[in-house]
Amino acid sequence: MPLFPLVRPLLFSLDAERAHRMTITALKALPALPATARDPRLATRLAGLDFPTPVGLAAGVDKDAEVPDAFLSLGFGFVEIGTLTPLPQAGNPRPRLFRLPEDRAVINRMGFNNGGQADALARLSKRARRGIVGVNVGANKDAADRIADYATGVAAMAPVADYLTINISSPNTPGLRALQEAQALDDLLAGAIAARPAGGPPIFLKVAPDLAPADIDAIARVCLDRAVDALIVSNTTIGREGLRSPHAKETGGLSGAPLKALALERLRDFRVATGGALPLIAAGGIASGDDAYARIRAGASLVQLYTALVYEGPLLARRIARELSALLARDGFATVGDAVGVA
Ligand code: FNR
Repeated sequence: MPLFPLVRPLLFSLDAERAHRMTITALKALPALPATARDPRLATRLAGLDFPTPVGLAAGVDKDAEVPDAFLSLGFGFVEIGTLTPLPQAGNPRPRLFRLPEDRAVINRMGFNNGGQADALARLSKRARRGIVGVNVGANKDAADRIADYATGVAAMAPVADYLTINISSPNTPGLRALQEAQALDDLLAGAIAARPAGGPPIFLKVAPDLAPADIDAIARVCLDRAVDALIVSNTTIGREGLRSPHAKETGGLSGAPLKALALERLRDFRVATGGALPLIAAGGIASGDDAYARIRAGASLVQLYTALVYEGPLLARRIARELSALLARDGFATVGDAVGVA
């Protein structure tokens, strides 16, 4: 019997951040689920990595790499930990995480709360490297040189990362998104790539959905010039259109169902802007096999989710993978890669 419908009212009766903490604690204590058979159709290769399924856990769920293997055993094809900053950081004052059930959404202004790179490095160094774990890095709020913080993160975390994500798209560190501007981005990427040890992991860039067409073209050009390995589209939005929940006016980044159309539109924009030359990873409002399939057809090689897990429970990745298999089979695709960008 599915457990989540029973547990959900308890979790929803708690403050959202406490519920999140309880979930991580429970995942530490619970035994790993037995592996289920995987459809070979879902296996896909990107940036030299072999993903068993294209359905990944987005950054922000397991910021400090406490339970990456638990999420892998729940059926995620890969897990992105972080955002990690070089130094530990408390983040913004609480409350800073809000559920918007009427909108199937979340607003967060966590502000890169995390235990710092050294602790996560120690934890990740101890695990058996089974399953793909990416490490998302950011800059400390008070860093004298934010661009240098990214190079620091790349150098520090490369030994334990299957891939690295440069996150310049959080709305909760004032001024951070200015790093998406072409010259700043070029400097940042040059520094990050130079800091990567020889033979080190691929580097992905995660962008915001709130970008004008000129920004999209500039970001695409810089990423192609610097040979970034993939783009993650997207982070949370600062937009607030059409919300009904009493928490709608909270400051922070909005995620979940209300982000879905915008994130899909940005994905399409980046597909056009990159001419398919740069692999894309979709995030934002993905909650079903249909949603994942739509992103893949629009050009995504992989997808990631966070907010839908809050509403649907931890077995969602398995369900999405199952639904995606059926959709690929229905349309005669032998592999998920064959469906990328067909729309
Ligand atoms: C996030 N997200 C996020 N992204 C990131 O790159 N670093 C981070 O630390 C976080 N932290 C974070 C916390 C919370 C509470 C949420 C809800 C989200 C963004 C996340 O990875 C994802 O890009 C967006 O949430 C959009 O996907 P969903 O949630 O609509 O599936």
